[in-house]
Amino acid sequence: EVDITMLGIETSCDDTAAAVVRSNGEILSQVVSSQAELLAQYGGVAPKMAQEAHAAVIDQVVQDALDKAGVREKDLSAVAVTIGPGLSLCLHVGVQKARKIAGSFNLPLVGVHHMEAHALVARLVEKKLQFPFMALLISGGHNLVVLARDLGHYIQLGTTIDDAIGEAYDKTAKWLGLDLRRSGGPAIEELALEGDAKAIKFTVPMKQHKDCNFSFAGLKNQVRLAIEAQNVTPEIPISAANSKERSARANIAASFQRVAVLHLEEKCQRAIEWALKIDPSIKYLVASGGVASNKYVRSRLKQVVEKNGLQLVCPPPSLCTDNGVMIAWTGIEHFRVGRFDPPPPVNEPDDVK
Ligand code: KG4
Ligand code: ZN
Repeated sequence: EVDITMLGIETSCDDTAAAVVRSNGEILSQVVSSQAELLAQYGGVAPKMAQEAHAAVIDQVVQDALDKAGVREKDLSAVAVTIGPGLSLCLHVGVQKARKIAGSFNLPLVGVHHMEAHALVARLVEKKLQFPFMALLISGGHNLVVLARDLGHYIQLGTTIDDAIGEAYDKTAKWLGLDLRRSGGPAIEELALEGDAKAIKFTVPMKQHKDCNFSFAGLKNQVRLAIEAQNVTPEIPISAANSKERSARANIAASFQRVAVLHLEEKCQRAIEWALKIDPSIKYLVASGGVASNKYVRSRLKQVVEKNGLQLVCPPPSLCTDNGVMIAWTGIEHFRVGRFDPPPPVNEPDDVK
């Protein structure tokens, strides 16, 4: 097989990321520039602001990725870039950069689906991972469980009917006054270690629905009510809380996490049953996306998956959260079976998509 060297660019949400990866699975470089500090300052993503933040760093992030890899543009086989889903203003920054490089150096272009990349990066990590396999994709904007039958052939078994689990982690973290200079998920994971997970009786969502769909809006609301009932003053920094108030917050974090993950476990169990009926030869379930970097989530999912005779594959945290490696790798998967676009015209005007 020919050796492929791929540049991957990702700007769909609040991280600007680039990486250079080879088809033998070698990661030559991986660069991520986060907007977390900016978001913490403004309390959320505003698309225009996020776009400007991507535009301000994209050239440097890509240059760093090439420099660290010791690769020049002309040595690349192609350029891969996220084309969706995500904020279109943000996606545009990455797409424009990718087209500029591809146009100037006469390189093919591979458009990558962000969620497909979260799933396929597991094949870079685990060489034994062949199709068909299942993937549970749990991130801030998306919550999906799919049966991946082959490259580009995915059956969606379930999705969220409202919020994704990461959104529930992020809101809970914000309401508990946690430090949001990094994302809310890791802050909840850490605080939950101090708490009693049975202290608050949240109800597991969607118990009566015999499908594989998720819902986290109701649980989010239960958390908000619990915060009010416990007299925790929302949005006062945890650093300013006394020990009684700190432990009240830790109990909420732990109880929230337990029930959110119970919901994942139940739906995951049903999805495995469904998938094995469609294809009994499935041996693996991939858990990926930002929330899959959580140790509690991983250990609970591992039990469900192994109970069903499957193996869990979880990429390391740096490849679970948004990154350029997964885009480059998915670019390689498509490029080697001939799925790519020809080089764009040289000196294309900036506003052409
Ligand atoms: O996949 P990702 O980086 O971006 C999207 O595609 O959305 O996922 C980001 C989400 C955020 O909601 C973040 O709070 C969550 O993943 N997350 C975590 C952890 N690390 C990141 N949630 C729980 N525990 C973690 N350790
Ligand atoms: Zn993502």
